[in-house]
Amino acid sequence: MKKRIFSGAQPTGQLHIGNYLGALKNWVALQEEYESFYCIVNLHAITLPQDPKVLRQKTLDLASIYLAAGIDPEKSTIFIQSDVPEHAELTWVLSCIARMGELARMTQFKDKSPRSLNKRLIRARASLDAEAIRIAENEAFLDFGNAGVGLFTYPILMAADILLYQTDLVPVGQDQKQHLELTRDLAERFNRDFGETFVVPEPFIPPVGANILSLQDPSKKMSKSDENANGAIFLLDDADTITKKFKKAVTDSGTEINFEPDRPAIRNLLTIYQLLTGKSADECVAHFDGKGYGQFKTELAETTVEFLRPFQERVKDYDDASLKSILKAGAEKARSIAQNTLQQVYEKTGISGPAL
Ligand code: TYM
Repeated sequence: MKKRIFSGAQPTGQLHIGNYLGALKNWVALQEEYESFYCIVNLHAITLPQDPKVLRQKTLDLASIYLAAGIDPEKSTIFIQSDVPEHAELTWVLSCIARMGELARMTQFKDKSPRSLNKRLIRARASLDAEAIRIAENEAFLDFGNAGVGLFTYPILMAADILLYQTDLVPVGQDQKQHLELTRDLAERFNRDFGETFVVPEPFIPPVGANILSLQDPSKKMSKSDENANGAIFLLDDADTITKKFKKAVTDSGTEINFEPDRPAIRNLLTIYQLLTGKSADECVAHFDGKGYGQFKTELAETTVEFLRPFQERVKDYDDASLKSILKAGAEKARSIAQNTLQQVYEKTGISGPAL
């Protein structure tokens, strides 16, 4: 039997080249070898305030992005998280074995702490960018006491996503590693307390590209919700925007173009170039030997524009009706597996069983 993969992305903001290089690219490659489930995690999206109309549209848009990136619905199951209610049901059961302490240690949650949020808000206001200010204000609202409980329990829903499908492998970027560790802990704890039930999943974090950094601040990851849109190359950015963003990208002191760890900005740009061209690290360094930052950025922009062009053309190909039909078939397939796992969980915990 083929081993199984599960992964997902949130239908919020715009997907960027970091999402593609850290996750989607690997989903596409791995679907050949694994039985794959790729989910649009709309229940995760509402841990921060969303406009309902926009969320619905972005949910469908994300399906077309999955397809355009190369996920083949004949090989992989693509579905919307909320179409399989077992995700929310298993979340509840796992919430009853998860510990406050282990959730409080999650760095993604800690990143939303009042101090870092206030810093973001100050930066956003200084940028005068209305959208960035809106995002920062939304987030700043969520100091610990006012934070939505969903933001805190978010990783439990993620664990439920993965464990429902008896997943062997979870291809994600570096920022999800800690959530994967929690998922493994919850699976092991449940198996220990109630008997062997869940496969304990392994993360798949690519050796190159798992942490693409902001073009404006290489101490931070590239992010959908960055207050500075120049920090991210979005998959649907046009050629002009891409060129401008790379031109504005910060660089390190010095002139060499190499992968030295103490030169994070150039290393990051070169990593993007390496992954988009498929060249080896040595070939990339040799290619830019003796060339300046200006030439490097121009070539990187051209490579990115050419890489994204066919993807951007394919995205337009899908109409809502065909997307909905793919998602419906995906949900049916996913649900048959999820129901089976949840049934086992309910029997083992005494929620259902012979006497009831
Ligand atoms: P999300 O929507 O934030 O991101 C989707 C995927 O993109 C990866 N990623 C990156 N990779 C490299 N460099 C970056 N700068 C970068 N930014 C994001 C993420 O690691 C992720 O793989 N919690 C998840 C969604 C989720 C999920 C799951 C994933 C929900 N349930 C179950 C796997 C399995 C998230 O918010 O991803």
